[in-house]
Amino acid sequence: MKIGIDRLSLYTSKYFIDLKTLAEQRSVESEKYYLGLGQERMSVPAPDEDVVTMGANAAYPLQQAGELEEVELLLFATESGIDQSKSAGIFVHRLLGLSPRCRTIELKQACYSGTAAVQLAKDFVRAHPEKKALVIAADIARYDLESPGEATQGCGAVALTISAQPRMLSLDDASGYYTEDVMDFWRPNYRSEALVDGKYSTQVYMRALEACWAQYSEQTGRSIGDFDFYCYHIPFTKMAEKGHRRLARVLKESLAQEDIDQKIGPTLTYSKQMGNCYTASMYMGLASLLEGSEADISGKRVGFFSYGSGCVAEFFSGTIEASYRSGEWASHTSLLTNRSELSYQQYEDIFNYQVPTDGGDYTFPIYATAPFRMQGVHGHKRAYEKVVE
Ligand code: HMG
Repeated sequence: MKIGIDRLSLYTSKYFIDLKTLAEQRSVESEKYYLGLGQERMSVPAPDEDVVTMGANAAYPLQQAGELEEVELLLFATESGIDQSKSAGIFVHRLLGLSPRCRTIELKQACYSGTAAVQLAKDFVRAHPEKKALVIAADIARYDLESPGEATQGCGAVALTISAQPRMLSLDDASGYYTEDVMDFWRPNYRSEALVDGKYSTQVYMRALEACWAQYSEQTGRSIGDFDFYCYHIPFTKMAEKGHRRLARVLKESLAQEDIDQKIGPTLTYSKQMGNCYTASMYMGLASLLEGSEADISGKRVGFFSYGSGCVAEFFSGTIEASYRSGEWASHTSLLTNRSELSYQQYEDIFNYQVPTDGGDYTFPIYATAPFRMQGVHGHKRAYEKVVE
């Protein structure tokens, strides 16, 4: 039975800071960010946005198009959760008016949980081929100001429907996966910024890639040349390239810059402009590939490497479906080109603004320009509202 990604929609904040502006402020050459990390801009969430509003905004076009009517499983992947008990998915379930006959769960394992959700959704659809699952992956990547990770922040959300009639990408069953207890990146409950051992995290990323690939290639007999494209987890775009070069080196395969440009380049366009979106990052890469390629890429095979610090990783694959271009949300380029640029001071003010934690009641001014926003906090409860059709 064919199962895979039927529809894909994404969202990122309307606000961004150019990394040239950040570089100037940090007295760093902008080439370090633009060329060394491969990042040009990063999305900055408005004060009235969180993972609930971003997730709902990503899925809204699908709801409007009637694509969510058969959804009976909503998996919400995030590492920027807003509550220790209640799933962020339940707020989204209400905002989107989904059927009460639905299992709704929040999943956590750093950036990997988006892929955990996709794989669990695939198994659900295999058991119930007439139903759909909705996977939402939403995150706000935050590191301390002036830390090495600062230039790799970002925010965004993807919404994917998984079904037995996938119109975008069918998923293969073969998969290599890997768990290892490491402290490369983590966020204790008392912090709103992640802590990271940056260089070490890149090494673990590579180690996990090698282990996942070894299992996957043993199952399939495929080699590195058997893929038309690779979607890597993208904490910063240079990491995806480095991962692929490492894989080639370990496998003693020659790899020209042309291979990188053709097989990975198209997956990096959106992330260069948005920054890390943690759980959503790899799927931003898929959206970038599907929406950015001028040539018809249906029938092409894509290799996916999903990595979540801590760590869990997985290598799997899929084939682009003939109808991958259908759908009125088929391009999100305008979402990125119509954003508003922040000055350094505006970025720092937004960074330092936090949803109040003193237990008081607050109503937030309107900053967000998407359909859903956070209206305020009342009686220890976050309130959401729809402001734009
Ligand atoms: P750093 O140590 O400040 O940077 O931060 P650097 O000194 O290594 O420089 C970066 C690159 O820029 C280097 O290239 C420099 O040579 C180059 P490389 O040697 O690596 O090829 N460079 C320049 N290039 C051109 N012109 C110049 C120039 N100057 C320098 N003038 C670090 C880098 C990755 C440590 C930092 O960004 C960081 O801590 N990031 C956060 C952690 C991270 O993203 N890790 C990735 C793997 S872990 C992961 O992906 C999981 C994650 O998404 C979380 C989750 O799972 O939830 C993070």
